[in-house]
Amino acid sequence: MAQPIILNILGSPRKNGTTARIANSFVETATRRGAQVTSYYLNGLHYRGCQGCEGCHTRSERCILRDDATQILEGIYLADIVVFSAPIYFGDTCGQFKSFYDRMWSLIRPDYLDHPDEASRLPPGKTALLILSQADDHPAHLDAQERYRLYLGTYGFSVKTIMAAGLSMRPNTDISSYAAQAEQLARELIL
Ligand SMILES: Cc1cc2nc3c(=O)[nH]c(=O)nc-3n(C[C@H](O)[C@H](O)[C@H](O)COP(=O)(O)O)c2cc1C
Repeated sequence: MAQPIILNILGSPRKNGTTARIANSFVETATRRGAQVTSYYLNGLHYRGCQGCEGCHTRSERCILRDDATQILEGIYLADIVVFSAPIYFGDTCGQFKSFYDRMWSLIRPDYLDHPDEASRLPPGKTALLILSQADDHPAHLDAQERYRLYLGTYGFSVKTIMAAGLSMRPNTDISSYAAQAEQLARELIL
């Protein structure tokens, strides 16, 4: 990749929380290695969840809602690497992240059931880095990780995962081992 384009989608409402700090370790290393990074802090944006209107499968090839999620969805078409980060809230991702994630329905072709291997509207060759964080230890919430991995795969992403476990809500929770994983991934993905 000449100058890889990275989209950093920060799902936690906590700007300096564990997932944001792990994601930022990835993007800082990536930036040093020449990547161009755009970050979106979902909690500061205004967008609705998917309305299930199917406008993206009947009237348009894009989500027909126009709000702050629109430019992030467009950005996914252009990005080489998309970082998705979110804390686990009650066994799934936090609401801010889930509402945005549902809007990614518009990235799926209308005939996905007949052609499951060509379900995605996205150009091929993209990587997703999924960063989930939880207070419980492993293997709690492995099901959430697997679910999100599965759907990112449906979009055609090659998926890397960091499942950060045992991280409390206390400020300055030690994330160093996960930050090291993120930095290592940046070195592997951006040569
Ligand atoms: C509303 C709420 C629900 C939570 N539910 C869970 C849960 O079901 N399982 C878990 O392990 N941690 C749960 N947690 C803890 C967070 O997932 C965990 O501390 C995470 O590291 C926070 O990430 P952040 O700092 O990026 O926001 C919950 C926290 C909150 C505020």
